[in-house]
Amino acid sequence: MALLGPPGCGKGTQGAVLKLKLQLAHISTGDLLREAVDHGTRVGLEAGKLMAEGKLVPDDLVLDLVRKRVEKEGAGYVLDGFPRTLAQATGLDLITDDIGQGLDHVVSLSVPREEVARRLGGRKCCPDCGRLYHQTFSPPREPERCDDCGSGLVIRDDDREETVLERIRVYECQSAPLLGFYEEKGLLRDVDGSGAPEEVTARLLSAVGHER
Ligand code: AP5
Repeated sequence: MALLGPPGCGKGTQGAVLKLKLQLAHISTGDLLREAVDHGTRVGLEAGKLMAEGKLVPDDLVLDLVRKRVEKEGAGYVLDGFPRTLAQATGLDLITDDIGQGLDHVVSLSVPREEVARRLGGRKCCPDCGRLYHQTFSPPREPERCDDCGSGLVIRDDDREETVLERIRVYECQSAPLLGFYEEKGLLRDVDGSGAPEEVTARLLSAVGHER
């Protein structure tokens, strides 16, 4: 399945839960790109500046990363933050045709703008294992330390207020039109992303026909 929705709607949080509950590979293009930036690869060098400005990375670079990862995983997968443009959606169709495993569901998580701002304003991430926290909604047991691996938590570079506003604008202009594309294909499941993470998970699982 693919998880779509504006920045901060909970794609990463729910992707991590679906990975455990449904034994799916969790493929986040944001995480793949941040890894490329950290490793200073050719893709990372091109992507880093665009990400810091809240802009989308070129489709061909992202499609290449996704193809490699999907082919490597081989089993069921949840795509987080991909596709984000119509060109990526049609590119994904080619990839899924090649591996013989197409999308069953495209979940759109809807969250009001004010809630997005609250969530991104308090987000903390573990740079080593990737676990997500929120200083109010899901704080770590020990301040600024990851519960799972003990690493110091960090704030993402693109969570600065002006970059968040640009990311929301980019989502509305370039990614929201994808919802119509998937609605026409009969794959779109609109899920209310507000409320506690567990409530969102329950709605999401029910929307894709799985028990809790
Ligand atoms: P990406 O990493 O995908 O960022 P995003 O889409 O902006 O989404 P976020 O990761 O900010 O939020 P999320 O929806 O995952 O929410 P989360 O679960 O973390 O992309 C970053 C950049 O990479 C893009 O701007 C672009 O430059 C580039 N990029 C990535 N993919 C690309 C592509 N396909 N094409 C081109 N460029 C691409 O939750 C947020 C916070 O809220 C957390 O603190 C969490 O703990 C908390 N929270 C979550 N759910 C709840 C809840 N129900 N209640 C309370 N708090 C909650």
